Amino acid sequence: MVYSSRVLALLLALCIALITTLFLSLFESVAASALLVAFFISFSVSYLLIFVVLEFLIFREINKIYKLVGKLKKKELSGLDREKPNALNPLKKINDDIYSFAELKQKEIDELKKLEAFRKEFIADVSHELKTPIFAAQGFVHTLLDGAVNDKTVRTKFLKKAAKSLDGLDILVQDLLTLSHIETGQIKMHFENVDLHKLTQEVFEQFEDKADKRDVRLRIENPGQKVFVYADWQRISQVMTNLISNAIKHSNDGSEVVVSFEVSKKNIITKVHDQGEGISAEHLNRIFERFYRVDKSRSREKGGTGLGLAIVKHVLDGHNTRAEVESTPGKGSVFSFKLPRAKSDVSDGADN
Ligand SMILES: Nc1ncnc2c1ncn2[C@@H]1O[C@H](COP(=O)(O)OP(=O)(O)OP(=O)(O)O)[C@@H](O)[C@H]1O
Ligand SMILES: [Mg+2]
Repeated sequence: MVYSSRVLALLLALCIALITTLFLSLFESVAASALLVAFFISFSVSYLLIFVVLEFLIFREINKIYKLVGKLKKKELSGLDREKPNALNPLKKINDDIYSFAELKQKEIDELKKLEAFRKEFIADVSHELKTPIFAAQGFVHTLLDGAVNDKTVRTKFLKKAAKSLDGLDILVQDLLTLSHIETGQIKMHFENVDLHKLTQEVFEQFEDKADKRDVRLRIENPGQKVFVYADWQRISQVMTNLISNAIKHSNDGSEVVVSFEVSKKNIITKVHDQGEGISAEHLNRIFERFYRVDKSRSREKGGTGLGLAIVKHVLDGHNTRAEVESTPGKGSVFSFKLPRAKSDVSDGADN
């Protein structure tokens, strides 16, 4: 039996016509010819109506749903046209619901695939980064064991080199732990009023020696300004440490690293300027990725793990803000981020 709209309409129309004719035949006054006419009229009208309803409102929509499910099975979601839901036809709404559900699932699958690729890449990167200092330290220790230990000058030199590699390994592991703690939410932000001048001054003190060696001057642009923000002191100090350390590392000898603050009604934008090598456009949006370094070998030489800016990004995410960077190759870079000003009622001395 074929369940097409035509066959169903024919059967139903036949039933309706028969019932109508039988009903009319109960009246003796109705002539046989009139019964015949009534049969044909009721048959044709019912057939037409039922056929139209079945074909256009039900079968067509069911076919579309089948087609949609078929395409979903073959994962051809992108080639589908979404239909507008129609309040009069519930089948159209079902069609739309299936489409929305499939779209949502597809998005989830794409996201999971991306995360999976990211995880694989991350593991490969971590292994590679760990391998480098381990291999170096291993090499020095083995050379010592193979006899170099008897030579006093070589012994001290190799032990120092092995210690340096292991120190690098320690920094790398600490950075990875920090990132993982921020990501898993194990580090809770402690928001308070933070004096950005004081914080910057403390970070400058940490890097005084390093900057002196390169003859790089560290300066706050407007020391008289009051700059209080509402943030986590320790985390923002980590951000400034990373940005200022990068600025010094990539500065030209004898240049300046300047920290400036732009105070507006609600926010303060902190900017770290350097007059160094700068970053070319193709690297700019990738430098916040973990382990991304513009010049891998040179950066490693300078003791970088490539995690500094990834930590900066995560910390600023935790403050609902982000770092911006502007850079001109050969001239220098400006890293900046925006934080809300300290609340006036609690700020100790802020000019809000
Ligand atoms: N001020 C800057 N000027 C020029 N290049 C920069 C600057 N800051 C960052 N970069 C580039 O971005 C890369 C990533 O920086 P990031 O701070 O994440 O890593 P790193 O400094 O190499 O290592 P780490 O900060 O972990 O010691 C650096 O290797 C460098 O190539
Ligand atoms: Mg860095």
